[in-house]
Amino acid sequence: MKNRTKMAVFASGNGSNFQALYEATQDGRLDADIVLVVADKPSAFVLERAKQAGVPAFSFTPREYASKQAYESMLVEKLEGAGVEWLVLAGFMRLIGPVLLRTYENRIVNIHPSVLPAFPGKDAIGQTLEAGAKEAGVTVHFVDEGMDTGAIIAQRSFAVDGSDRETVERKIHEIEHQLYPESLQQLFSRQQSV
Ligand code: GRF
Repeated sequence: MKNRTKMAVFASGNGSNFQALYEATQDGRLDADIVLVVADKPSAFVLERAKQAGVPAFSFTPREYASKQAYESMLVEKLEGAGVEWLVLAGFMRLIGPVLLRTYENRIVNIHPSVLPAFPGKDAIGQTLEAGAKEAGVTVHFVDEGMDTGAIIAQRSFAVDGSDRETVERKIHEIEHQLYPESLQQLFSRQQSV
């Protein structure tokens, strides 16, 4: 039997990337299991998606903890309890701190809706359009202590060509939903063969 990587998906909102990853784990494109969804907002729609998919989910409210260190220590317990090997951020709107970075060193990835290093941070699509950039796109990268600064794993771009925001957003999501499962499959298979 194939060795399936155990991952947790971290999200703050809609969770369309969670959905795409989950579907890839079910139809053979991604040899991994999402063993936990973590949301930093109890109202995040991703929690509803996890429930529908039968994936265990956990939400918390950061301001109820004394510090980032406090809530990340609590998360480490949950993650280790679920046997999580990789953290996969998908629309998680919070910087990862030293506790998680140390525990999951080189095993935290993120997806960002721009061709990094251009337009890191919030509203990357808005930043791209406002700057009049010729290209928009998506980056999958490792997470370090910075904001969207870790080593790049994969990128895909397309010409903006005067498209409106709605069109650019739709294309970005289409790319994300393919690129994330593909990149993780490659990454995990490299890990599994070492
Ligand atoms: C995606 O565009 C991702 O690149 C960014 O946040 C968005 C999350 O979308 N980090 P969804 O919640 O997965 O639909």
